[in-house]
Formats: sequence, structure tokens, C-alpha cells
Amino acid sequence: MTIEQQLVGLIEHDDSVDPFPVIGWDALVWVVGNATQSAHFLQSAFGMRLEAYSGPETGIRDHKSFVLRSGAARFVVQGAVDPDSPLVAHHDRHGDGIVDIALEVPDVDRCIAWARDHGARILVEPHDESDEFGTVRSAALATYGDTRHTLVDRSGYYGPYMPGYVARTSTHQRRTARLFQAIDHVVGNVELGMMDRWVDFYRNVMGFTNMAEFVGDDIATEYSALMSKVVANGNHRVKFPLNEPAVGRKRSQIDEYLEFYRGPGVQHIALATGDILATVDALRAEGVEFLQTPDTYYEDPELRARIGRVRVPVGELQRRGILVDRDEDGYLLQIFTRPLADRPTVFFELIERHGSLGFGKGNFKALFQAIEREQEARGNL
Ligand SMILES: [Fe+2]
Repeated sequence: MTIEQQLVGLIEHDDSVDPFPVIGWDALVWVVGNATQSAHFLQSAFGMRLEAYSGPETGIRDHKSFVLRSGAARFVVQGAVDPDSPLVAHHDRHGDGIVDIALEVPDVDRCIAWARDHGARILVEPHDESDEFGTVRSAALATYGDTRHTLVDRSGYYGPYMPGYVARTSTHQRRTARLFQAIDHVVGNVELGMMDRWVDFYRNVMGFTNMAEFVGDDIATEYSALMSKVVANGNHRVKFPLNEPAVGRKRSQIDEYLEFYRGPGVQHIALATGDILATVDALRAEGVEFLQTPDTYYEDPELRARIGRVRVPVGELQRRGILVDRDEDGYLLQIFTRPLADRPTVFFELIERHGSLGFGKGNFKALFQAIEREQEARGNL
């Protein structure tokens, strides 16, 4: 198994028989209230490097875009400059969040033709954009809520990101190694009763397949519950868990998200790291806050037995609040940040895989109890 296969759980796949071949993630595009400061935060706290920029200085009058990278992961952070920018209305409604899960594909036209034939709403038709570095071909289709997938073929392009952007390097000089290497998965929250519809969308329109399924009691707690199914592209580099609220004694955390995001959207982004302990230590030192894991989680004999041997003593995980889950293929270590912005919506997960291709099913209950303690503190439970 190569390092990359291990890191994000890749499998062998033959693109030639795939109706909608996907190479991998292109970028996660955020709309935020203050792109200048969000870009600073992602550099200073998460160790990302600034690679490119567009804004008034480059001829884009109404908004600024900062392109940041850590390993294979690319984020584009956008914020309005002009009060009349369409980004203002988007941010007004949703707060900080992901507007575009852009995917790299080898053939934009082939994917769009398949998607259109299978009922997709095409937002942007296939088109070329060129500058002195070459040509990018792209198109976009709608997914849940106001979220979209831009499909990008950048095989003929050698610039810093896209035509219209200029190279810009980071002013932050980190001494430490990269804190994460890739995007592992991106989770969407959708309304009650809509999860299967979006699973069908990814299967029928984008050629994804079901990967794992968690329903009902798997992830119910005393107070709230959700249902979750996972779809993935052919090689499993792109993995989309989809959650919907389930009926519990109190309001589901998914309902809280849907209320504060004003509809379906991206709930969390899992960032793959080869050393979650070092990453968590570095992030804590920069003031990043994580959900707390109760000591009872580590002391529960049943859980201890199921976890078995992991690469570090359990005490090292407990000290940092890192969760462990094991399945038939191996184990994974994971931890979740608190919401990144003001609304209780989007957050990050950090994940270190050791063979497991799962998503931490065994941790859902422990995690949700931790989330609910915070939800209760906000008066939303
Ligand atoms: Fe996750």
C-alpha cells in the first residue's frame, strides 16, 4: 500500500468504464465574511500556504479570493469587497461556509453530458478560460442547498490556480512541518427525508457508489439522532458522507445546523494527517479548540477491548481527546474542532488512518454526546 492509499484509503479503479471519472478534489471554495482574516487564520493556525490571489488589484472589482494549500488540499477563501457583490447575499444567508466542492476531472464535457442526461441542474456550461499559463476547462452543477460542484480540467494549465489569479506567497514562515496532507472526506447535512435522494443523485448523476451505511441506533444518543450514508467516487479519493436528522427526544444536531446555515450545506471537512498527535499539539498551541472527549470514553472497558493496540499508549490519546475506532480493515484516529466561525455550522475533523476505510462509526455516540453538551450550553438542545 502506498502512503497516499493509506492516508486517504484509496482503492484501485478503472476510469475507462466509469461514466463520470473523477481524478480527485480540485478545491474547496469558501464564502466568508472576511476573507483577508480567514486566509490569515488558515495560514497562522492551520499552517496552510498562500499560493494565489485575485481581487481589485488584479481586475476583480467586487471580491477577494485567497488560494491556500497544505499538501494536496487546496482551499479558496472568498469575501466581498463591493457591498453589491452577490457574495454579500450568500454570506448574509449562510454565514461562513463552503459554496463549491470543486472536483478535478479528465473530461469536463463527458461528465456534464452524463450529468445532464441523468437530471443534473447545470449551473455553468463547459467553457475555456485562458491566460499566458494555458487553458482551464470547467463547468458547474448544483448539489444540495446552495452548494455546487465545479468540474475542472486543468491538464492544460500551468499557472498558480486559474486565469485571473496571480501567484502570491505566504507571509507566514512556519517552522514546523505541514499540519495536514489532503482532504479525506466532506460531509453534507441535508433535510429530514432527503438523504436517500442525495445518495441517488451522487449514484445516478455523478457515478458514485455507496461506501458504508449507518442508520438509526448506530448513531442515536439519548437526545438526538441522525442517519448517515456515504458515497464515493471510483478510486475513493472523494468521499461524501450525507447526514439527515432522525427523530430523537430532543433536537438533532443536524437540525441545529440546518437552522443556522438556513438549509443544507457542508457540515465538516476531514483533513488527513500522518501524525494526528503532532498536528493536534500544534493546532492547540495556535489556539484552535476541539470538542472535548469525556474521560469515560477512554476508561470504558468495552471500548478499550474493541480498540486493541494502537500506535501510541491510550493515555497519549486521552490527554489530547483523540478518538479511536477499529473495523475489520484496521483502525483510525480522529478528532473534531469546534465550529470555525460564529454560527454553529462548519467545522474540521482531523483523521489518521491505519487501514480502516471507515468514518469512525463507533465514535459517533461519544462524539455526539460531546456535541450535545455544547448545543445545550448554547440553549439549542
Ligand atoms: Fe467525518
